[in-house]
Amino acid sequence: MDHFLYRDGALYAEDVPISEIAAAVGTPFYVYSTATLLRHFQLFDDALDGTDHLVCYAMKAASNQAILKTLAQAGAGMDVVSGGEYMRAKAAGVPGDKIVFSGVGKTADEICTALTGGIRQFNVESEPEMEVINAVALELGVVAPITVRVNPDVDAKTHAKIATGKSENKFGIPIARASEVYAHAASLPGLEVIGIDVHIGSQLTELEPFELAYNKVAELTERLRAEGHNIRRLDLGGGLGIPYARSNDAPPLPVEYGAMIKKTLGHLGCEIEIEPGRLIAGNAGLMVSKVIYVKSGEDRDFLILDGAMNDLIRPAMYEAYHDIIAVQEPAPGVEQQPYDIVGPVCESGDTFAKQRNMPPLVPGDLVAFRSAGAYGAVMSSEYNTRPLIPEVLVHGDQFAVIRERPTFDEMINRDTIPEWL
Ligand code: LLP
Repeated sequence: MDHFLYRDGALYAEDVPISEIAAAVGTPFYVYSTATLLRHFQLFDDALDGTDHLVCYAMKAASNQAILKTLAQAGAGMDVVSGGEYMRAKAAGVPGDKIVFSGVGKTADEICTALTGGIRQFNVESEPEMEVINAVALELGVVAPITVRVNPDVDAKTHAKIATGKSENKFGIPIARASEVYAHAASLPGLEVIGIDVHIGSQLTELEPFELAYNKVAELTERLRAEGHNIRRLDLGGGLGIPYARSNDAPPLPVEYGAMIKKTLGHLGCEIEIEPGRLIAGNAGLMVSKVIYVKSGEDRDFLILDGAMNDLIRPAMYEAYHDIIAVQEPAPGVEQQPYDIVGPVCESGDTFAKQRNMPPLVPGDLVAFRSAGAYGAVMSSEYNTRPLIPEVLVHGDQFAVIRERPTFDEMINRDTIPEWL
């Protein structure tokens, strides 16, 4: 459920007409609903009710500080994967002891930033990384709390580019080597081993792969405890999928996911952490764009929008499906027609949808890409010297620009010309 609904024929974000935001900020833009963000966070928090837990929002999904602050005020921790994300989370007021640091290639500088500013734990991805964390911690005279990310060799049954839990993926250490790696970690004085981490992929639409992985984590917990490690926290990663196409079978609900976690891991008495990103932010955001031209091709009509692949890359990168709806609700019974919906960037990959049925549209009409809140704005670029598009946050009947559209001068003046030119 989200808070983007038609009222009297016009699409609203909560109590604000989308057309009003478009008039104020211009198109294209991203718009997020506070109520939807909070609702999705709450679904996870409630799903783990009765267990000691922390929902650490995977801020890579949508990292604007206004979004982080909204979630942090509701009690969320953060999962960060770079020094930049760590600093952004801190800037949004998230305390270090609610920030988990994941990611396969943490540099010594990033580790130092996090150890200095405070960190809940590092999710360690390899033995060389473990040694660097140990060395930095010793240099700073602190002890770094860590989990080790294990790779359970489970097929997440999702798009190959976002599956992470198979042995051929670059993530984590092979679960079969866990005893050895944990013994190594325990021998390093700058580290305190507190738990186990696992994350098998993103946009999972079934519980089964999670359950397979979590069962392996349960077994491993008992084994490592028997080997003398004080395993007290399990970080289960993110990955629960969202319905992109309204016609699709819906993925499992957070409450079902939570029940499965309690069933597979509840007996261990560990604190549970989860790192959802997409399910919190995905359906809490739209990308709104304007039709610039309707072009008749040989055998098809093209809707040419002012938004492009640089603004929302998911269709080009993952063949991802996004619902695209007219901001002005089509009159009942209006006949739909197929369009190829494209952006103005100079490559054929800049195609959002092929032969998508839409109501008849004309230049100037607004369309909204649904489910664009996660991995939308954060993956955008300035390709074709197109400005990063603004982000807007709605709260009831209020809205605020939470990232301005840069001017062309700001963009162009970032280049510096060497003196020999
Ligand atoms: N934790 C870790 C360690 C991760 O690598 C990820 C996502 C998450 C949590 C959050 O997963 P989520 O709950 O959002 O599925 N750009 C791609 C998705 C990449 C996901 C990367 N890792 C897309 O647009 O589909």
